[in-house]
Amino acid sequence: MDNDPSNLLVLEGISKGYNTIQTRIEILKQVDFTIRKGDSIAVVGASGIGKSTLLQIIGTLDRPDEGRLLFEGRDLFALDQERLARFRNRSVGFVFQFHHLLQGFTAMENVMIPCLISKMSKQDAEKRAKEILARVGLQERFFHRAEDMSGGEQQRVALARALVLEPLLLLADEPTGNLDIRNSEEIHQLLMELNKELGMTVIVVTHNNDLANLMNQRVTLKYSGIVPLQ
Ligand SMILES: Nc1ncnc2c1ncn2[C@@H]1O[C@H](COP(=O)(O)OP(=O)(O)OP(=O)(O)O)[C@@H](O)[C@H]1O
Ligand SMILES: [Mg+2]
Repeated sequence: MDNDPSNLLVLEGISKGYNTIQTRIEILKQVDFTIRKGDSIAVVGASGIGKSTLLQIIGTLDRPDEGRLLFEGRDLFALDQERLARFRNRSVGFVFQFHHLLQGFTAMENVMIPCLISKMSKQDAEKRAKEILARVGLQERFFHRAEDMSGGEQQRVALARALVLEPLLLLADEPTGNLDIRNSEEIHQLLMELNKELGMTVIVVTHNNDLANLMNQRVTLKYSGIVPLQ
């Protein structure tokens, strides 16, 4: 058991493969990695190497075939489905390349969803959603529907939704992969500011060097495991 209180997450011998029609492919092989509280980590690596797979496992959206994931010393995959879902809701924020906002719903409604899932009152959820939307610069867009906003605005709503419950861990998979340079830079800046303000731990998968360089640690995922960049 990992007992170092400065560790947020410890990956121990994580392996994952997929069965396809013809054969079985092994993607992650015995990956060991320790993430300390407050770290900001960029994960880079070749396309198809398993970066998204790794992030999905860290966020408990997918299960490894072997290995353990310890969050503050707790073995996450030993939790039952209900506890695991609660953990995900409270402790992990996700941002993806595609914003995955609910179409037809306003920025406010999209951001309030994690709060309502956590059984917060509607009033508190509204207050929190307004605060975080204002923090990402969308005070003029509270009642815009998702599809009526620009790509950069939609991704800022997605960031607000990921952060509204102030998770300990933010996972981002190519968060600016679909944005132009100006919007990407804005999101990069926000990510770093919020990482400092909220003291959360950030793991970002990216092909964008500017974003990777803002993180205090850069690692490469290879067939042999996770190695420091350079
Ligand atoms: N459900 C699945 N069934 C079969 N194979 C899968 C499945 N999900 C992913 N894979 C395969 O696993 C490998 C790793 O995929 P993953 O999406 O993690 O790569 P990645 O490093 O994120 O790549 P990219 O940089 O292109 O996003 C790929 O070869 C992919 O085809
Ligand atoms: Mg990917």
